[in-house]
Amino acid sequence: MIIRSQEELKRYQQAADKSMKILKKLFDATVLGITPLEIDALADQECLKMGVIPCFKGVGPKNNKYRWATCISVNDTVLHGIPENKPLKKGDLVKVDFGINDDSWITDHCFSKSVGKPKPAEYRLLTVARKAIIAGANLAIVGKKTGDIGAKIQEVVEGAGFSVVKEFVGHGVGHSLHDAPQLPAYGQRGTGFTLKEGMVLCVEAQVLGSKSDRVYVDDNAWTVKTVDGSKSAMFEYMVLVAKKEAIFLTDTRHWPLF
Ligand code: MF3
Ligand code: CO
Repeated sequence: MIIRSQEELKRYQQAADKSMKILKKLFDATVLGITPLEIDALADQECLKMGVIPCFKGVGPKNNKYRWATCISVNDTVLHGIPENKPLKKGDLVKVDFGINDDSWITDHCFSKSVGKPKPAEYRLLTVARKAIIAGANLAIVGKKTGDIGAKIQEVVEGAGFSVVKEFVGHGVGHSLHDAPQLPAYGQRGTGFTLKEGMVLCVEAQVLGSKSDRVYVDDNAWTVKTVDGSKSAMFEYMVLVAKKEAIFLTDTRHWPLF
């Protein structure tokens, strides 16, 4: 969507703040021994408390609609992980993706967290992924192109010897979860859609800790995993396109990584 007034921006920021409050609870709960299903139940419970609706439920095809508040993807599960009833172990690399519908204002955000101190290789994957996505999101400036953001993310990720998933893309967001424009985490500078003042974008990328970008969809038709078994990291930020610099509506850039 395109935000056209200060009032609209204020209202959307409120929704983003509520969503971050819940995300912080989910972040703190993502520790040794908890199951993703329990984290998902916490998300439901916090939404209820705050009077908002988890917005992932009902997404997808008629015969296989998504039924959870969160996507929780562990290790070689890249995204759209269905929350499992399996306790988190030391060293698990967990991606928690979550969004709300706050009276029709929709949010979408994802953090990655290691359960306990990560091994050096995984710490590097986490930091590179976050750095790349922030560098891309920083290009959410009037007049830049969607390809500028994608190219930047890809450059940082591949420069570190990792890869980005090509089958899923970031997106606009607003009164619908997947709004225009599409926003690949790869591509070429100067190509794609021109960014306009007030656009709200979900800048996201799935970064694989391997040179291979190959993924496959699991039998449940949702869960995406790496072919070579490598671990992955994912971050997603909601940013507002502005004249001078991008404004992070869900600003978790400073959160710890474990
Ligand atoms: N952040 C994910 C996306 O932008 C959310 C997926 S929602 C789901 O696609 F409902 F499809 F799981
Ligand atoms: Co998204």
